[in-house]
Amino acid sequence: MIRHKILDLLTTRPGEFVSGEQISQGLNLTRAAIWKQIKGLKEAGYEIEAQTKNGYRLLATPLALDAWAVAQELKTERLGRELYLYEEISSTNEKAKELARQGAAHGAVVIGRRQTAGHGRMQRLWESPPGGLWMSVVLRPNLSLADASKLTLVTGVAVVGALREMGELRPGIKWPNDVIFEGKKLAGILAEVVGEWTTIQTMVIGIGVNANLERKDLSPELPAGSLQELLGCPLDLNKLAAGILEKLEEGLNIFERDGFAPLRELWLERALGIGRECAIEKGGQVYRGIMRGIAADGELVVEVDGQDHKFASGEVRLRAVNGEYF
Ligand code: BTN
Repeated sequence: MIRHKILDLLTTRPGEFVSGEQISQGLNLTRAAIWKQIKGLKEAGYEIEAQTKNGYRLLATPLALDAWAVAQELKTERLGRELYLYEEISSTNEKAKELARQGAAHGAVVIGRRQTAGHGRMQRLWESPPGGLWMSVVLRPNLSLADASKLTLVTGVAVVGALREMGELRPGIKWPNDVIFEGKKLAGILAEVVGEWTTIQTMVIGIGVNANLERKDLSPELPAGSLQELLGCPLDLNKLAAGILEKLEEGLNIFERDGFAPLRELWLERALGIGRECAIEKGGQVYRGIMRGIAADGELVVEVDGQDHKFASGEVRLRAVNGEYF
């Protein structure tokens, strides 16, 4: 892509001007063609200074999602190295599953600037207006199916880790992997196995972050929060996407090398509600008790009437200090 080549030239010596002539010779473009590309880049949110004498200088990359800008931020070996960015898509999970079936590599990533049919856990709709980070990763991990299902917990650790590095906010994880700050959901994770594990061993992990959107863009009844509103300023979504992918790759490497135990510790350190009252709804029944943590297999442990019970699935609500459940 010509635009990406221009950006590559502008970043070879960061902060310095690159003359129109250099670009024109390097890419075999007329001055008018370069100007048109620069205009397009500015419209996409790149801040580029143009001086008649000195040429062009890149001042800032966009905060909005942009494939070149994500690639620029990536520190991963494999995750995100194959990246598909869509202006609008039904669901990045669906697209990633389709790509996985067609042979997409481990680490391939699909991002949509908005989703028209995003979905969440328990067949719920996931509202995905522009400004959020709606991203799915194809993983072909070297793990058994029982271990692979714990990757949703590992992803929760990665998302919270990346968010904590982006700003002052200290969100936590509500089992299994809702990312919550002050009772409001900031991000959710949906992991799906693609086809039969015995034959293809592929998962798609979908991550939705209510990042640069306004709370009023989501239905009022949702217990959701907007990161931008909580932080008081918009986030660089490219940094956020790259940061999550980096942490996820780290987590996956630890998992494949040392097993789930160290990741369980990391999950517990970031978990909300341990030692506190909670309610868990499963199969139409509500159990109330004290949340004890997660077992070695990732299942939730809740003490009900003095006895530990394990839950592989269910909807947890934690009791806040004000007595309300979230
Ligand atoms: C949940 O908390 O219920 C999980 C929400 C997962 C939403 C993300 S957004 C990107 C990806 N595509 C989808 O359709 N869902 C996931």
